[in-house]
Amino acid sequence: MTDPLIPATLAFRPNGSPYSPEYGDIYHSIVGSLAQSHYVFLQGNGLPGRWQGRQAFTVLETGFGMGINFLTTWAAWRADPARSERLHFVSIEKHPFSADDLRRAYAVTVDDASVLALADTLAAAWPALEPGTHQFDFDDASVTLTLIFGDAVDILPTLRLRADAFYLDGFAPAKNPELWTPAIFNSLAAQAVDDATFSTYTSAGDVKRALLQAGFEYRKVAGFGWKRAMLVGHFAPR
Ligand SMILES: C[S@@+](CC[C@H](N)C(=O)[O-])C[C@H]1O[C@@H](n2cnc3c(N)ncnc32)[C@H](O)[C@@H]1O
Repeated sequence: MTDPLIPATLAFRPNGSPYSPEYGDIYHSIVGSLAQSHYVFLQGNGLPGRWQGRQAFTVLETGFGMGINFLTTWAAWRADPARSERLHFVSIEKHPFSADDLRRAYAVTVDDASVLALADTLAAAWPALEPGTHQFDFDDASVTLTLIFGDAVDILPTLRLRADAFYLDGFAPAKNPELWTPAIFNSLAAQAVDDATFSTYTSAGDVKRALLQAGFEYRKVAGFGWKRAMLVGHFAPR
């Protein structure tokens, strides 16, 4: 039998950043969750440019959290006249929020009206907190969100995707090492198309080594906000 889910607890640091008491880490930078998502994950994966003119584009994310990356990606895709015909966003979350907590979080972290409208749509569609796959179609089924509630350690090896971009967003490696192991990167490599890209806010040495051994090349670039560096790169198997 599958273990029941343990939902996330919504909490905030005194400076206002959403925070996980379980992991001892923040969900997003206080400098701005939307700006961070744009910089680290969209820009870090060459988006919107890389989906332009394509039939379909698939993103695979570790750690759905509040879905800020999904919302910024969906909003950027909608705003792009040259967007791919379809966008598939696949994300795994071990400790989902309740729909009420998501709404509370969006009220204080989402400062853009168009993204807030999408956040309302997502919260209205939010499923019961049961383990397994929950799939939603938006925008006349041009946008599909496949949200998998469970542990990415177990779920990633079972996926059969052709991912164009990876958003590696599972809290800092020092706080949550299980999402940054060589086994995780091997599972991601197994889902990657040849020119797949990735980005992550971390630049930890163990992550760099695990990326290389799984066939990814990385570049260190300037980080967001107070973070000095982060990693971007692509799948380049030898
Ligand atoms: C920094 S937050 C993600 C923020 C999110 N991407 C967003 O845009 O709002 C990291 C997330 O990873 C989740 N997580 C941690 N370990 C996990 C695991 N083993 N499997 C799946 N999710 C995990 C946490 O519960 C948390 O929601």
